[in-house]
Amino acid sequence: MAFETSEIGAAAGVLRAGGLVAFPTETVYGLGANAEDPAAVARVFRTKGRPPSHPLIVHLGDADHLGEWAADITKTARVLAEHFWPGPLTLVLRRGRRVPPEATGGLETVAVRVPDHPVALALLSAFGGGVAAPSANRFGSVSPTTADHVRAELGDAVDFVLDGGPCDVGVESTIVDVTGEVPGILRPGGVAREALEAALGRPLAVPESSPVRVPGQHPSHYAPRARVVLVEPENVVAEAELAQGLGHRVGVLLPPAFAGARVEAHAVVAVPAASAEYARGLYVFLRDFDRRGCDLIVASLPAEEGLGLAIANRLRRAAGPRDPG
Ligand code: TXA
Ligand code: MG
Repeated sequence: MAFETSEIGAAAGVLRAGGLVAFPTETVYGLGANAEDPAAVARVFRTKGRPPSHPLIVHLGDADHLGEWAADITKTARVLAEHFWPGPLTLVLRRGRRVPPEATGGLETVAVRVPDHPVALALLSAFGGGVAAPSANRFGSVSPTTADHVRAELGDAVDFVLDGGPCDVGVESTIVDVTGEVPGILRPGGVAREALEAALGRPLAVPESSPVRVPGQHPSHYAPRARVVLVEPENVVAEAELAQGLGHRVGVLLPPAFAGARVEAHAVVAVPAASAEYARGLYVFLRDFDRRGCDLIVASLPAEEGLGLAIANRLRRAAGPRDPG
């Protein structure tokens, strides 16, 4: 990628000066601030419209200084960090001395990850410290997977946007809580549960079966503007046509088994059969339905294996109850 070193230097300077930098990662774009600057971190929350009680992920350029950002690093944490960093895995650990409480919503734990993207790594290395970054979208909406998504959603509220092209993974990182005896997945994401279990040699609890531990995991997260309705794959076409016939502007995520079907609807996307490809496109498809004015999206859940687990999780949340207004 032809990427200007001077641009990275300028972005690192913005972080040092307390500004906000949107940057690409392999999962989604992040809205970054110096993790050690409470005022800059506060601006991230304001810009996103996110309640300050919802903790941010601290991004590091490598795992060498993890001990300054997290404490009580367990064997499990080390195994996962070694296997999957840099990569789409976030570890929840006890908070280390460099992490101000503002970045963790006052929690005694901190979420940390080393992203696998050349632009993110160049920025983190030039900056030198930790970058606290949520996904670069407004609270509750779909994460951005291109720099254009970020500009469209946050505009002038961001001081600097690094454009690294479309994100390769397309859904957020997998979050694993490694603070206790038994590790557990808090959010399925870019690293498949099967890969984590293979690395650890033990099964991991799935989020649907574990209670909500922290704020920031509302069912309505990751939602497009249009209402999302989930039905069985064989009912997608009929449900979509029924709703379209009732006057809705329907967007359809057509399951692979029905890829050739003709559908009377406003917008139709035949979803890729390979889950990695589906994950890469998911938020693009949802944003596209919004852009085209759909008010209802009809979809079905993919098999919950590999990245299918993360896709199903995001679709369920998108279909979940909304806050009134
Ligand atoms: O792929 C990703 O993870 C992207 C990129 C930019 O790295 N980031 C991202 O951040 O998705 P965000 O803020 O949109 O989601 C972070 C999630 C939130 O749901 C938050 O509740 C959870 O991480 N989280 C953060 N700190 C936590 C903690 N100490 N304990 C439990 N969950 C935590
Ligand atoms: Mg987010």
